[in-house]
Amino acid sequence: MDIEKVNSMDFGEFVDVFGNVIERCPLIAAAVWSQRPFSNLEDLEKHFFAFIDALPQSGREGILRCHPDLAGRELQQGTLSAESRREQSGAGLTSLDADERLRLAELNAQYRARFGFPFVLAARRSDRAAVPRELARRLRCPPAQELRTALAEVKKIGHLRLADLLGAHPAGL
Ligand code: GUN
Repeated sequence: MDIEKVNSMDFGEFVDVFGNVIERCPLIAAAVWSQRPFSNLEDLEKHFFAFIDALPQSGREGILRCHPDLAGRELQQGTLSAESRREQSGAGLTSLDADERLRLAELNAQYRARFGFPFVLAARRSDRAAVPRELARRLRCPPAQELRTALAEVKKIGHLRLADLLGAHPAGL
C-alpha cells in the first residue's frame, strides 16, 4: 500500500486499516486521520507517536492497560487481536509448556501489581526464553523509568505494524 492510497482513505476505511497500530486504541487512528495528507510512512508514524506523547500520564498508562498479557488468558481463550496473536506466535509464546506458562503468569501478575499496567514488549523482537528474562529484569526498574520503557515498546510494536501495512522494511530497532 502506498502513501497516496493511505491519503485517499475515508475515515471509516482508515480506522479499519490502522485502528490496531496501537493495540486496541482505534481512537488514536481516528485522531491521526484528521492530520492527513501524510508525506510518507515516517510522517504517518510521527503523528501516531505525537498523539501518545501529548497525553497526560493517565492516558499513557491507559494505552498500556489496553494491551493483553503476553501468553495470558486471552491467548488461551482465542480472544487476542490478529496482530497480537501473530506477534506472540512468532515469539513462540503460543507453544509454551505448562511450566513456562505458569512462570510467565506469575511474573505478569507481579509486574501488574508493582506498576499497575501489564508488561508490554515488542514480542516480534523477542522469543520465549527472552520474554521471562526481560520481564524479571524490568520488574526491578523504578516506576518512572518503566513507564518510559513500556511506551517505547508500544512504539516499536506500532512501527512494526505500520511497516507491515505499508509493505516497508522496518527500521532495525
Ligand atoms: N507485544 C506485542 N504485542 C503485544 C501485546 O498484544 N501485548 C503485550 N503485552 N505485549 C505485546
